[in-house]
Amino acid sequence: MARTADDSWDLASSVGATATMVAAARAVASRGPDAVIDDPFAEPLVRAVGMDFFTRLAAGELTAEHLDTDDSPTDITAFVNGMAARTRFFDDFFAAAVAAGVRQAVILASGLDSRAWRLDWPADMVVFEIDQPEVIAFKSTTLAGLGAAPKVQLRPVAVDLRADWPAALAAAGFDAAAPTAWIAEGLLGYLPPEAQDRLLQTIGELSAPGSRLAVESVPSQHAAPDDKLASRMQQVREQWQRHGFDLDFSELVYLGERADVGDYLTARNWSVRVLSSNDILTGCGLPAIEDPERLPTAAYLTATR
Ligand SMILES: C[S@@+](CC[C@H](N)C(=O)[O-])C[C@H]1O[C@@H](n2cnc3c(N)ncnc32)[C@H](O)[C@@H]1O
Repeated sequence: MARTADDSWDLASSVGATATMVAAARAVASRGPDAVIDDPFAEPLVRAVGMDFFTRLAAGELTAEHLDTDDSPTDITAFVNGMAARTRFFDDFFAAAVAAGVRQAVILASGLDSRAWRLDWPADMVVFEIDQPEVIAFKSTTLAGLGAAPKVQLRPVAVDLRADWPAALAAAGFDAAAPTAWIAEGLLGYLPPEAQDRLLQTIGELSAPGSRLAVESVPSQHAAPDDKLASRMQQVREQWQRHGFDLDFSELVYLGERADVGDYLTARNWSVRVLSSNDILTGCGLPAIEDPERLPTAAYLTATR
C-alpha cells in the first residue's frame, strides 16, 4: 500500500516489516564459525514477529540455495554480509563514542536493534530508542518475555519521526546540553526528502559540542522505468513471492530528489567522513562486491561536532 503522511505499522506490515527483514539477516550473519557479528536476540525476535518467510530465513531453513537463481538481481549472501558490515559499522561508532566520553545515545528508528541488550555499555550510559509505538512496545515486551534485560539505562520513546519527536525525547529525559551519539541506520529512505532535512537539522540543534552522528544515507532515486534500483527491487519481490512472501519495497521508500547527507551536514558545521558499502564490507573482513550492477548505493557517514 502506498505511503501516506501519517501512516503507521507494526513489525509485520509496511515499513515495520523491513525491520524484521534486517533482523533476519542479522540472525543469519550471527551463525557459523566466521560470523562477524553476534546478535543472539535477532532470531527470537524475528520468530516472535511470526512472518513465516523471515522466520525460516532467520532459522537457516531458507538459504541462498533456495533463494538465489542465476539471474538473481541480488544474492541473499551479499544482503546478509551487507547487514553484518552495517551492524559492525554502527557498533564500532558507539564504541568510539563511549571511548571518547559520550554518555548519551539516541537510536533513531530502532526497529529490532538489540544494541541496548547486547553491547557492553558504561554504567552511567543512557540510550534512547525512537520508533513507532507498536514497534517499541513489541520489542520491549518480547525481550522481557525472553528474560533479557537491557545492559544500559534504556529510555524507549514511542513516537513517529515525522511528528514532534524532540518533545517526546525531552519528555523522556534527553539532555540537550550533553554530548550525544546519534545513529540513523536503515532509516532515511523511508522518510520523505523534507523530513530527512528536518531530522538532520533537528539533530544538529540538539547536538552539544562533542556530539557525533552515524548515518546510512541513500541517494536520490527516481521512478523511471529503467531505474536500476526500482527494477532490482521488483526482481527481489518476484523472487521472494515464489517462497510465499510479498512486499512491494518500492512502495515503502520515497523517490525523488533528496539532499546529499554529507553536503547537508558539512554545510551545518559537522565534520564528515564517508565510507562506501565496499569499505565497510572489507573493513570487517567480508568480501567486496565486484559487480557494480549489484553494488548497493548506500553510503555510511560519521560526523562529529
Ligand atoms: C529497515 S528498518 C531499520 C531498523 C533498525 N535501525 C535496524 O537497522 O535494525 C526501518 C525502521 O525505521 C522505522 N521508521 C521508519 N520511518 C519511521 C518514522 N517516520 N517514525 C518512526 N520510525 C520510523 C521503522 O519502524 C523501522 O523500525
